[in-house]
Amino acid sequence: MLEFKNQLPFIENTSLQEVIKVCETPFYLYSQDKIIQKVEMTKKVLGENIFFSVKSNSNQAILKLMQSLNIGADVVSLGELKRSLSAGFDPSKIIFEGVGKSKDDLTFAIQKNIRLINTESLEEIKLLQSLALEQNKYVDIGVRLNPNIDGGTINKISTGKKTDKFGIEINEIENIINLMSDCKNLNLIGISCHIGSQISNINAYKNTFIEMKKSADKFSLSGINIKHVDLGGGFHVRYNKNDPEFKIENIKKELDDCFSKSNYELSFEPGRYLIAEAGILVTSIINTKQNGGINYLIVDAGMNTLVRPAMYNAYHEIEEITKKTDETMNYTVAGPICESSDIFVKNIHLTKQSIGDILIIKNTGAYGKVMSSTYNTRALPTEVLINGENFAIIYAPDKIEKNIEEDIIPSWL
Ligand code: LLP
Repeated sequence: MLEFKNQLPFIENTSLQEVIKVCETPFYLYSQDKIIQKVEMTKKVLGENIFFSVKSNSNQAILKLMQSLNIGADVVSLGELKRSLSAGFDPSKIIFEGVGKSKDDLTFAIQKNIRLINTESLEEIKLLQSLALEQNKYVDIGVRLNPNIDGGTINKISTGKKTDKFGIEINEIENIINLMSDCKNLNLIGISCHIGSQISNINAYKNTFIEMKKSADKFSLSGINIKHVDLGGGFHVRYNKNDPEFKIENIKKELDDCFSKSNYELSFEPGRYLIAEAGILVTSIINTKQNGGINYLIVDAGMNTLVRPAMYNAYHEIEEITKKTDETMNYTVAGPICESSDIFVKNIHLTKQSIGDILIIKNTGAYGKVMSSTYNTRALPTEVLINGENFAIIYAPDKIEKNIEEDIIPSWL
């Protein structure tokens, strides 16, 4: 995404130096063009029924862009639902999932007439029925099924095994069918699943499609006509050159093999795949030091800015902007947070770096800013969107003083 023109870094036609002049590091920067290309390519292969997983990047500008590209939104909280409506998504293009939706969440979703509320337990179906009855409404719902498939991803982001907390086990379908006959205000028209994130194994997709097709047929045979089959997200992004190559076209092939003879409307909920590679995190070196023979570069982004390396051991490639010499050094890049896990990467080779130099942490468009925090009482990162030679700040964080003022000291102290 970053290109060098006369040794100066550019994103699209915008010079990174111009952005740095008006934006303090650390900040996230997204390429609008890259996002558009990825969305269009995904639609071309998988069809129009793409629902952007808002949890991966929920900035209003990003959502507005996604909405303008005619895709829907997949939300997992009342907050995300409100964000999506506020960015202009038509309620008929919003799917609401999530393993823990409260009464208030469901009531709001019913009132907004969204496309589908995907339920994740028999208890939730019963609650939804009572709320729909109370409001004298007929509500379209889906059920998220747990197909008991191991996507082969890391445990922290696996969701499709039967011991995971998500969805309703497939062998409960009979119970769902029986329950639905008591739920006169609910119209079960969809099934969905999501077996996890960062899944590259085509067999895992294939097995999921087979289970979902069997399940949809089972419902339909019982007289519950399933219209939508939502196959989740989870498409793999290549963070590391050693990562397996993942081609979305291979998914399409499995999809056709499994569903070509049926009339279900198929949909997907990708997040990471649409936006991870369109984002970078720009950070400055605030200190350099050598401890125990390790050359540390201490940068102003930390695990509070990008938690993925500390939380999942995730790898993000780091590139230098300043190349003063050809000679490289072995570095460990760490954040300023007072925790040993606040390390972005160990043992990378960069040309000699100094205090004030800029580093780029790549492929951070998804699960970056949305997972940031003010830990250690540090400000949240700014976000910038690039569009050709234009750029706009799309999130300007509060000053840290505001964060302090939000605490309330009780009268007895
Ligand atoms: N649909 C559902 C129901 C999900 O739970 C998720 C992600 C998605 C779709 C989108 O998955 P994607 O296409 O982005 O892989 N914070 C973690 C990722 C957690 C994903 C949770 N669910 C990370 O930084 O790797």
